[in-house]
Amino acid sequence: MQHNILLTGASGYLGGSLLAEWSSAKLPPHGKLYALIRSDVQAAAVQKLGAEAIWLDTSNAESVRQCIVEHQITVVLWLINALRSEGQLALIHALAEVKRATGRDVYLIHVRITSLVDDAEKLLTSLRYPDERSEALL
Ligand SMILES: NC(=O)c1ccc[n+]([C@@H]2O[C@H](COP(=O)([O-])OP(=O)(O)OC[C@H]3O[C@@H](n4cnc5c(N)ncnc54)[C@H](OP(=O)(O)O)[C@@H]3O)[C@@H](O)[C@H]2O)c1
Repeated sequence: MQHNILLTGASGYLGGSLLAEWSSAKLPPHGKLYALIRSDVQAAAVQKLGAEAIWLDTSNAESVRQCIVEHQITVVLWLINALRSEGQLALIHALAEVKRATGRDVYLIHVRITSLVDDAEKLLTSLRYPDERSEALL
């Protein structure tokens, strides 16, 4: 059985660029491509590019679970705010349920930018820990 994929952030820079190139990229065979959307305009746009639109509130763990299980999604591309984690955690739990039920490998691909590490360093420095404590945290 091929992987069904959920692309998040499809209206954003990274997700939108990926979706625009999706059909011309020489990707391995895969199942359905779903794109998470939050408006009718986005739904029409992703459908034009070959994805099936899914409305989903990633902060609602039960909705996330139902969506992933119902669509038998085994790959999620997280291209939304990398500084928050609730959505990813709900998705990981939902993917684990699909894995338990089907025995299939599941993947969550989380994209973040390395400058976030610099931000974390600045934050930790600003906390005025003794040097050795902030270094240990990094
Ligand atoms: N841009 C880069 O060069 C780059 C490089 C490496 C990593 N990253 C990381 O990749 C992620 C995406 O970057 P980007 O530049 O593509 O960002 P972006 O253009 O601002 O796009 C953000 C996307 O996330 C969606 N989104 C935001 N909050 C959401 C929520 N609560 N539920 C569902 N969707 C939500 C937005 O949907 P709406 O349009 O509906 O608001 C939009 O599609 C960020 O975490 C960024 O740090 C970016």
